[in-house]
Amino acid sequence: MKRRLISLFMAVMVATCSMTGCGVKTSQKENTESGYGSGDVLSEKKVGVCIYQFADDFMTLFRDELKDRLVEKGISEDNIEILDSLNNHNTQVEQVKELINDGVDVLIVNPVNPSFAKEITDLAVGAGIPLVYVNREPDGDEEDRWVDNDYHVSYVGCDARQSGTYQGEIIEALGFDTVDLNGDGKLQYYMIEGDPENIDSQYRTEYSVRTLKDSAWKLECVGDEVGNWHQETARQLMAKFLEEDKDIEVVFCNNDAMALGALEAIEADGKVVGQDIFLVGVDALEEVIGCVLEGRITGTVFNDYISQSHSAADTAINYIKMEKVEHYVGCHYVKVTTKNAQEILDKIKK
Ligand code: BGC
Repeated sequence: MKRRLISLFMAVMVATCSMTGCGVKTSQKENTESGYGSGDVLSEKKVGVCIYQFADDFMTLFRDELKDRLVEKGISEDNIEILDSLNNHNTQVEQVKELINDGVDVLIVNPVNPSFAKEITDLAVGAGIPLVYVNREPDGDEEDRWVDNDYHVSYVGCDARQSGTYQGEIIEALGFDTVDLNGDGKLQYYMIEGDPENIDSQYRTEYSVRTLKDSAWKLECVGDEVGNWHQETARQLMAKFLEEDKDIEVVFCNNDAMALGALEAIEADGKVVGQDIFLVGVDALEEVIGCVLEGRITGTVFNDYISQSHSAADTAINYIKMEKVEHYVGCHYVKVTTKNAQEILDKIKK
Protein backbone atom coordinates (compact mmCIF):
# COMPACT_ATOMS: atom_id res chain seq x y z
CA MET A 1 0.00 0.00 0.00
CA LYS A 2 1.24 3.41 -0.93
CA ARG A 3 0.62 4.72 2.57
CA ARG A 4 2.93 2.14 4.10
CA LEU A 5 5.54 2.93 1.51
CA ILE A 6 5.64 6.41 2.93
CA SER A 7 7.57 5.01 5.87
CA LEU A 8 10.38 4.13 3.52
CA PHE A 9 10.37 7.38 1.67
CA MET A 10 12.95 9.92 2.67
CA ALA A 11 12.38 13.62 2.18
CA VAL A 12 15.58 15.57 1.79
CA MET A 13 15.34 19.06 3.19
CA VAL A 14 16.23 21.88 0.83
CA ALA A 15 18.03 24.75 2.40
CA THR A 16 16.07 27.81 1.49
CA CYS A 17 15.48 30.76 3.71
CA SER A 18 11.84 31.01 2.69
CA MET A 19 11.17 27.46 3.76
CA THR A 20 11.90 28.21 7.38
CA GLY A 21 10.18 31.55 7.37
CA CYS A 22 13.67 33.14 7.33
CA GLY A 23 14.15 31.88 10.83
CA VAL A 24 17.57 30.61 9.75
CA LYS A 25 19.73 33.64 9.78
CA THR A 26 23.03 31.90 9.14
CA SER A 27 23.70 30.21 5.81
CA GLN A 28 23.86 26.48 5.55
CA LYS A 29 27.62 26.67 5.03
CA GLU A 30 28.06 28.62 8.24
CA ASN A 31 25.76 26.21 9.99
CA THR A 32 27.83 23.26 8.90
CA GLU A 33 31.08 24.88 9.84
CA SER A 34 29.91 26.01 13.22
CA GLY A 35 28.34 22.63 13.95
CA TYR A 36 24.78 23.67 13.23
CA GLY A 37 22.42 22.06 15.67
CA SER A 38 24.65 22.60 18.63
CA GLY A 39 22.75 24.08 21.57
CA ASP A 40 23.75 27.67 20.78
CA VAL A 41 22.20 27.89 17.35
CA LEU A 42 19.30 25.54 17.93
CA SER A 43 18.34 27.48 21.01
CA GLU A 44 17.34 30.40 18.76
CA LYS A 45 14.82 28.29 16.85
CA LYS A 46 11.13 28.49 17.63
CA VAL A 47 8.87 25.47 17.92
CA GLY A 48 5.08 25.86 17.82
CA VAL A 49 2.95 23.03 19.18
CA CYS A 50 -0.83 22.53 19.13
CA ILE A 51 -2.34 19.78 21.28
CA TYR A 52 -5.92 18.75 20.49
CA GLN A 53 -6.83 19.37 24.12
CA PHE A 54 -4.86 19.65 27.35
CA ALA A 55 -7.66 17.86 29.26
CA ASP A 56 -6.47 14.41 28.14
CA ASP A 57 -4.39 12.23 30.46
CA PHE A 58 -2.36 10.59 27.73
CA MET A 59 -1.68 13.80 25.79
CA THR A 60 -0.54 15.47 29.02
CA LEU A 61 2.16 12.83 29.46
CA PHE A 62 3.05 13.19 25.79
CA ARG A 63 3.17 17.00 25.94
CA ASP A 64 5.44 17.15 29.02
CA GLU A 65 7.80 14.58 27.58
CA LEU A 66 7.86 16.40 24.22
CA LYS A 67 8.83 19.67 25.84
CA ASP A 68 11.57 18.02 27.91
CA ARG A 69 12.98 16.33 24.84
CA LEU A 70 13.03 19.56 22.81
CA VAL A 71 14.87 21.30 25.63
CA GLU A 72 17.25 18.38 26.09
CA LYS A 73 18.05 18.56 22.37
CA GLY A 74 18.93 22.26 22.59
CA ILE A 75 15.73 24.24 21.96
CA SER A 76 15.32 27.02 24.51
CA GLU A 77 12.27 26.59 26.73
CA ASP A 78 11.31 30.21 26.00
CA ASN A 79 11.11 29.35 22.29
CA ILE A 80 8.62 26.52 22.70
CA GLU A 81 5.00 27.59 22.49
CA ILE A 82 2.46 24.88 23.30
CA LEU A 83 -1.20 25.72 22.75
CA ASP A 84 -4.39 24.00 23.89
CA SER A 85 -6.71 23.63 20.88
CA LEU A 86 -9.62 22.93 23.25
CA ASN A 87 -10.90 20.10 21.05
CA ASN A 88 -12.01 22.63 18.44
CA HIS A 89 -10.74 22.40 14.85
CA ASN A 90 -11.37 26.07 14.04
CA THR A 91 -9.51 27.15 17.17
CA GLN A 92 -6.61 24.96 16.09
CA VAL A 93 -6.52 26.47 12.60
CA GLU A 94 -6.39 29.97 14.11
CA GLN A 95 -3.58 28.85 16.42
CA VAL A 96 -1.59 27.45 13.52
CA LYS A 97 -1.96 30.80 11.72
CA GLU A 98 -0.83 32.64 14.86
CA LEU A 99 2.23 30.43 15.27
CA ILE A 100 3.14 30.96 11.63
CA ASN A 101 2.82 34.73 12.10
CA ASP A 102 5.00 34.45 15.20
CA GLY A 103 7.75 33.06 12.94
CA VAL A 104 8.05 29.51 14.27
CA ASP A 105 10.66 27.38 12.52
CA VAL A 106 8.69 24.16 12.80
CA LEU A 107 5.16 23.11 13.81
CA ILE A 108 4.12 20.03 15.78
CA VAL A 109 0.38 19.40 15.58
CA ASN A 110 -1.84 16.87 17.35
CA PRO A 111 -4.89 17.44 15.13
CA VAL A 112 -8.34 17.91 16.63
CA ASN A 113 -9.76 16.28 13.55
CA PRO A 114 -7.25 14.41 11.39
CA SER A 115 -9.78 14.28 8.54
CA PHE A 116 -9.30 18.04 8.15
CA ALA A 117 -5.50 17.85 8.24
CA LYS A 118 -5.27 19.11 4.66
CA GLU A 119 -6.20 22.63 5.80
CA ILE A 120 -3.38 22.67 8.34
CA THR A 121 -0.87 21.13 5.93
CA ASP A 122 -1.69 23.79 3.33
CA LEU A 123 -1.15 26.60 5.82
CA ALA A 124 2.24 25.23 6.88
CA VAL A 125 3.40 24.37 3.37
CA GLY A 126 2.18 27.76 2.08
CA ALA A 127 4.29 29.49 4.73
CA GLY A 128 7.30 27.24 4.10
CA ILE A 129 7.22 25.80 7.63
CA PRO A 130 7.88 22.09 8.20
CA LEU A 131 5.12 20.26 10.04
CA VAL A 132 5.09 17.15 12.23
CA TYR A 133 1.72 15.58 13.01
CA VAL A 134 1.53 13.47 16.15
CA ASN A 135 -0.84 10.94 17.76
CA ARG A 136 -3.79 11.29 15.35
CA GLU A 137 -2.93 10.05 11.91
CA PRO A 138 -4.19 11.90 8.84
CA ASP A 139 -5.68 9.64 6.16
CA GLY A 140 -3.77 7.87 3.40
CA ASP A 141 -4.63 10.38 0.66
CA GLU A 142 -3.29 13.20 2.78
CA GLU A 143 -0.07 11.33 3.53
CA ASP A 144 0.36 10.47 -0.15
CA ARG A 145 0.19 14.19 -0.95
CA TRP A 146 3.26 14.84 1.25
CA VAL A 147 5.22 12.22 -0.65
CA ASP A 148 3.99 13.16 -4.13
CA ASN A 149 4.73 16.86 -3.61
CA ASP A 150 7.82 16.38 -1.46
CA TYR A 151 6.19 18.43 1.31
CA HIS A 152 8.13 18.81 4.53
CA VAL A 153 5.40 17.11 6.49
CA SER A 154 5.60 13.95 8.63
CA TYR A 155 3.48 11.83 10.95
CA VAL A 156 4.82 10.29 14.17
CA GLY A 157 2.73 7.68 15.94
CA CYS A 158 1.85 4.02 16.40
CA ASP A 159 -0.43 1.78 14.38
CA ALA A 160 -3.58 1.51 16.51
CA ARG A 161 -4.46 -1.86 14.94
CA GLN A 162 -1.69 -3.36 17.03
CA SER A 163 -3.15 -1.99 20.28
CA GLY A 164 -6.58 -3.45 19.48
CA THR A 165 -5.03 -6.79 18.59
CA TYR A 166 -3.12 -6.82 21.87
CA GLN A 167 -6.31 -6.13 23.85
CA GLY A 168 -7.89 -9.14 22.17
CA GLU A 169 -4.82 -11.26 22.86
CA ILE A 170 -4.82 -10.36 26.57
CA ILE A 171 -8.37 -11.72 26.83
CA GLU A 172 -7.63 -14.70 24.61
CA ALA A 173 -4.69 -15.72 26.81
CA LEU A 174 -7.09 -16.19 29.74
CA GLY A 175 -8.79 -19.02 27.84
CA PHE A 176 -12.39 -19.12 26.67
CA ASP A 177 -13.68 -21.17 29.61
CA THR A 178 -12.32 -18.67 32.11
CA VAL A 179 -13.87 -15.71 30.35
CA ASP A 180 -17.23 -17.32 29.51
CA LEU A 181 -18.44 -16.73 33.05
CA ASN A 182 -22.08 -17.64 32.39
CA GLY A 183 -21.06 -20.72 30.40
CA ASP A 184 -23.37 -19.97 27.45
CA GLY A 185 -20.65 -20.56 24.83
CA LYS A 186 -20.49 -16.87 23.87
CA LEU A 187 -18.47 -13.96 25.14
CA GLN A 188 -20.69 -11.05 26.16
CA TYR A 189 -18.64 -7.86 25.75
CA TYR A 190 -19.20 -4.15 26.19
CA MET A 191 -17.16 -1.64 24.18
CA ILE A 192 -16.39 1.92 25.32
CA GLU A 193 -15.01 3.91 22.40
CA GLY A 194 -12.90 7.06 22.34
CA ASP A 195 -13.67 9.80 19.83
CA PRO A 196 -15.32 7.89 16.93
CA GLU A 197 -13.63 10.24 14.41
CA ASN A 198 -10.25 9.12 15.65
CA ILE A 199 -8.49 6.30 13.87
CA ASP A 200 -7.17 4.97 17.21
CA SER A 201 -10.76 4.44 18.38
CA GLN A 202 -11.84 2.87 15.13
CA TYR A 203 -8.96 0.41 14.96
CA ARG A 204 -9.00 -0.50 18.65
CA THR A 205 -12.73 -1.19 18.51
CA GLU A 206 -12.37 -3.31 15.39
CA TYR A 207 -9.18 -5.22 16.12
CA SER A 208 -9.82 -6.16 19.76
CA VAL A 209 -12.93 -8.05 18.71
CA ARG A 210 -11.55 -9.29 15.40
CA THR A 211 -8.62 -10.99 17.17
CA LEU A 212 -11.01 -13.14 19.20
CA LYS A 213 -13.27 -13.85 16.23
CA ASP A 214 -10.22 -14.94 14.24
CA SER A 215 -9.56 -17.47 17.00
CA ALA A 216 -13.10 -18.78 16.50
CA TRP A 217 -14.49 -17.29 19.72
CA LYS A 218 -18.22 -16.58 19.58
CA LEU A 219 -18.94 -13.05 20.65
CA GLU A 220 -22.01 -11.04 21.55
CA CYS A 221 -21.81 -7.26 21.78
CA VAL A 222 -24.06 -6.17 24.66
CA GLY A 223 -23.29 -2.48 24.21
CA ASP A 224 -21.04 -0.12 22.26
CA GLU A 225 -20.92 3.46 23.49
CA VAL A 226 -18.83 6.57 22.95
CA GLY A 227 -16.87 7.69 26.03
CA ASN A 228 -14.76 10.24 24.13
CA TRP A 229 -11.55 9.17 25.89
CA HIS A 230 -13.01 10.55 29.11
CA GLN A 231 -13.01 8.87 32.54
CA GLU A 232 -16.19 10.31 33.99
CA THR A 233 -18.17 9.74 30.78
CA ALA A 234 -17.06 6.09 30.81
CA ARG A 235 -17.98 5.75 34.50
CA GLN A 236 -21.49 6.97 33.79
CA LEU A 237 -21.92 4.72 30.75
CA MET A 238 -20.73 1.67 32.65
CA ALA A 239 -22.89 2.46 35.69
CA LYS A 240 -25.96 2.86 33.47
CA PHE A 241 -25.27 -0.42 31.73
CA LEU A 242 -24.73 -2.31 34.99
CA GLU A 243 -28.08 -1.04 36.30
CA GLU A 244 -29.74 -3.05 33.53
CA ASP A 245 -28.31 -6.20 35.13
CA LYS A 246 -27.54 -7.95 31.83
CA ASP A 247 -24.84 -10.57 31.46
CA ILE A 248 -21.46 -9.06 30.74
CA GLU A 249 -18.06 -10.73 30.76
CA VAL A 250 -15.54 -8.35 29.18
CA VAL A 251 -15.27 -4.58 28.94
CA PHE A 252 -13.01 -3.22 26.22
CA CYS A 253 -12.06 0.43 26.64
CA ASN A 254 -10.26 2.28 23.85
CA ASN A 255 -8.03 3.97 26.46
CA ASP A 256 -7.05 3.75 30.12
CA ALA A 257 -8.81 6.89 31.31
CA MET A 258 -12.08 5.21 30.31
CA ALA A 259 -10.97 1.90 31.85
CA LEU A 260 -10.53 3.75 35.14
CA GLY A 261 -14.05 5.16 34.80
CA ALA A 262 -15.46 1.73 34.02
CA LEU A 263 -13.58 0.27 37.00
CA GLU A 264 -15.15 2.81 39.37
CA ALA A 265 -18.63 1.79 38.19
CA ILE A 266 -17.83 -1.93 38.29
CA GLU A 267 -16.53 -1.73 41.86
CA ALA A 268 -19.42 0.50 42.95
CA ASP A 269 -21.71 -2.25 41.67
CA GLY A 270 -19.93 -4.74 43.94
CA LYS A 271 -18.28 -6.65 41.08
CA VAL A 272 -14.70 -7.88 41.23
CA VAL A 273 -12.51 -7.76 38.11
CA GLY A 274 -10.96 -11.14 37.43
CA GLN A 275 -13.89 -12.95 39.07
CA ASP A 276 -17.12 -11.35 37.83
CA ILE A 277 -15.86 -9.44 34.81
CA PHE A 278 -12.69 -8.70 32.80
CA LEU A 279 -11.51 -5.23 31.85
CA VAL A 280 -8.86 -3.97 29.42
CA GLY A 281 -7.62 -0.53 28.39
CA VAL A 282 -4.85 1.07 26.32
CA ASP A 283 -2.09 3.55 27.31
CA ALA A 284 -0.58 2.05 30.49
CA LEU A 285 -1.18 5.12 32.64
CA GLU A 286 0.68 4.78 35.95
CA GLU A 287 -2.58 4.38 37.89
CA VAL A 288 -3.75 1.63 35.57
CA ILE A 289 -0.48 -0.28 35.81
CA GLY A 290 -0.98 -0.16 39.58
CA CYS A 291 -4.48 -1.63 39.11
CA VAL A 292 -3.08 -4.36 36.84
CA LEU A 293 -0.56 -5.27 39.55
CA GLU A 294 -3.40 -5.44 42.10
CA GLY A 295 -5.52 -7.51 39.73
CA ARG A 296 -8.22 -4.81 39.52
CA ILE A 297 -7.73 -4.33 35.77
CA THR A 298 -7.06 -7.39 33.58
CA GLY A 299 -4.53 -5.70 31.33
CA THR A 300 -3.64 -2.70 29.23
CA VAL A 301 -1.41 -1.85 26.28
CA PHE A 302 1.54 0.50 26.63
CA ASN A 303 1.12 3.44 24.29
CA ASP A 304 4.73 4.54 24.36
CA TYR A 305 4.46 8.30 24.77
CA ILE A 306 8.17 8.43 25.57
CA SER A 307 9.37 7.09 22.23
CA GLN A 308 6.58 8.86 20.32
CA SER A 309 7.29 12.29 21.82
CA HIS A 310 11.04 11.82 21.44
CA SER A 311 10.63 10.86 17.78
CA ALA A 312 8.36 13.86 17.26
CA ALA A 313 10.89 16.24 18.83
CA ASP A 314 13.77 14.65 16.91
CA THR A 315 11.83 14.82 13.63
CA ALA A 316 11.04 18.50 14.20
CA ILE A 317 14.69 19.22 14.99
CA ASN A 318 15.86 17.31 11.93
CA TYR A 319 13.63 19.55 9.85
CA ILE A 320 15.17 22.63 11.48
CA LYS A 321 18.65 21.25 10.89
CA MET A 322 17.70 20.43 7.32
CA GLU A 323 18.58 16.79 7.76
CA LYS A 324 16.89 13.77 6.23
CA VAL A 325 13.39 13.22 7.57
CA GLU A 326 10.94 10.37 7.06
CA HIS A 327 7.31 11.11 6.27
CA TYR A 328 6.13 8.31 8.54
CA VAL A 329 7.77 7.49 11.86
CA GLY A 330 6.15 4.52 13.60
CA CYS A 331 6.52 2.87 16.98
CA HIS A 332 5.35 -0.28 18.76
CA TYR A 333 2.77 -0.90 21.46
CA VAL A 334 3.49 -3.37 24.30
CA LYS A 335 0.99 -5.71 25.97
CA VAL A 336 0.81 -5.14 29.72
CA THR A 337 -0.36 -7.86 32.13
CA THR A 338 0.70 -8.81 35.66
CA LYS A 339 3.74 -10.49 34.08
CA ASN A 340 5.45 -7.31 32.86
CA ALA A 341 3.50 -4.49 34.57
CA GLN A 342 6.31 -3.73 37.01
CA GLU A 343 8.82 -3.50 34.17
CA ILE A 344 6.67 -0.96 32.31
CA LEU A 345 6.09 0.97 35.53
CA ASP A 346 9.84 1.20 36.09
CA LYS A 347 10.27 2.42 32.52
CA ILE A 348 7.77 5.26 32.81
CA LYS A 349 8.89 6.28 36.29
CA LYS A 350 12.54 6.62 35.27
C1 BGC B 1 -4.71 7.58 23.52
C2 BGC B 1 -5.84 8.21 24.24
C3 BGC B 1 -5.88 9.68 23.94
C4 BGC B 1 -5.91 9.89 22.42
C5 BGC B 1 -5.86 11.35 22.05
C6 BGC B 1 -4.80 7.87 22.04
O1 BGC B 1 -3.69 7.32 21.38
O2 BGC B 1 -4.75 6.18 23.71
O3 BGC B 1 -5.71 8.05 25.63
O4 BGC B 1 -7.03 10.23 24.51
O5 BGC B 1 -4.80 9.25 21.86
O6 BGC B 1 -5.87 11.49 20.66
